[in-house]
Amino acid sequence: MTVSGYAESEVMGKPHSVIRHPEMPRCVFKLLWDTIADGREIFAYVNNMAKNGDNYWVFAHVTPNFDAAGQIIGYHSNRRVPEKAALETIKPLYCSLMEEERRHPDSKVGLERSWKMLNDAVATAGFDSYDRFIFTITPEN
Ligand SMILES: Cc1cc2nc3c(=O)[nH]c(=O)nc-3n(C[C@H](O)[C@H](O)[C@H](O)COP(=O)(O)O)c2cc1C
Repeated sequence: MTVSGYAESEVMGKPHSVIRHPEMPRCVFKLLWDTIADGREIFAYVNNMAKNGDNYWVFAHVTPNFDAAGQIIGYHSNRRVPEKAALETIKPLYCSLMEEERRHPDSKVGLERSWKMLNDAVATAGFDSYDRFIFTITPEN
């Protein structure tokens, strides 16, 4: 709330997309939701928008919460301040993904293409998942 500039009353019960930045590629959110809905955790870089329109990057660790029977009952996210060096890799990648999404008048096609582009970028870098890829650009802290 301090960083985003929202008061508690403005965000309680609201979707996380309140702070969605228009320059965030949809394919990254697809990856996030696909992963956590499958019961796995994900680390991801996310560009958010504060109430005053400023942007702020976070390195998010998003995990499902399980009940005693192993059913998913919710999700939560811890965020760290990203290293500047990591953002030098992420910013141009997300920019290309956004361009691809915008290039297609049919948003479904745009998402399919940017999704492929994201997976190709990870594979070209020599990794089998976005997580493994971003850990190589994320210094230990
Ligand atoms: C625990 C959790 C934390 C999230 N944090 C953010 C966040 O910081 N910023 C964001 O834009 N979306 C976040 N999301 C994803 C949003 O729910 C949403 O999918 C995204 O903002 C895209 O919104 P849209 O589908 O309405 O375009 C989070 C989701 C979960 C489950």
